[in-house]
Amino acid sequence: TSRKFFVGGNWKLNGDKKSIEELANTLNNAKLNPDTEVVCGAPSIYLDYARSKLNPNIDVAAQNCYKVAKGAFTGEISPAMIKDCGVKWVILGHSERRHVFGESDELIGQKVAHALENGLGVIACIGEKLDEREAGITEKVVFSQTKFIADNVKDWSKVVLAYEPVWAIGTGKTASPQQAQEVHDKLRQWLKANVSEAVANSIRIIYGGSVTGGTCKELASQKDVDGFLVGGASLKPEFIDIINAKA
Ligand code: G3H
Repeated sequence: TSRKFFVGGNWKLNGDKKSIEELANTLNNAKLNPDTEVVCGAPSIYLDYARSKLNPNIDVAAQNCYKVAKGAFTGEISPAMIKDCGVKWVILGHSERRHVFGESDELIGQKVAHALENGLGVIACIGEKLDEREAGITEKVVFSQTKFIADNVKDWSKVVLAYEPVWAIGTGKTASPQQAQEVHDKLRQWLKANVSEAVANSIRIIYGGSVTGGTCKELASQKDVDGFLVGGASLKPEFIDIINAKA
């Protein structure tokens, strides 16, 4: 298969102009594998600034957006505004949006549809909580989350699916390469059965949850792991090692 390795950084609610400029300088001057697609997820207020500081070979993503283009929705941003800042991607359905801010599968589906219709690429996030894994319902949970996303996708070439087990996010407990591979493989099978074989074979399924310079190489060697969504480590020079994880 020819799935281009994809490494996203998710800065979450971190950074200021000074630190973003420093990180951009570090990334701009690093030797990055040209076969890896790199995207940095900046806070919305710094999208324009991050775009202006990063080299053009490094893309920028918003961390969220709303489901309509404009109107009386105080505090929200639209895909049109994101694109207006020269930004091509948006992260949707992140675990923190789901579990801290209470976003439903339905809302995430509507956001995915609107972002794609307006020409953004979407990094769509799914993942089970610890009690769900322990109850043996990981597949049921991630398949259900994926269905709400899939029902809203027409052009799959603009979608990257991020599997992020909630128990692995920000905990230092990276999923083992076997655990990640198993779920990625099951997701590809689900896509084959419910969308198409072509989409199942071509979509990038990336892993997120405590990825570090130390854990990225073995994860990247798994057959169905096509990259990463990186939180904490994406704020550090270590992000370069993760970008270059694929030999
Ligand atoms: O979007 C990124 C994930 O939430 C992972 O965050 O690498 O800090 O565990 P983390």
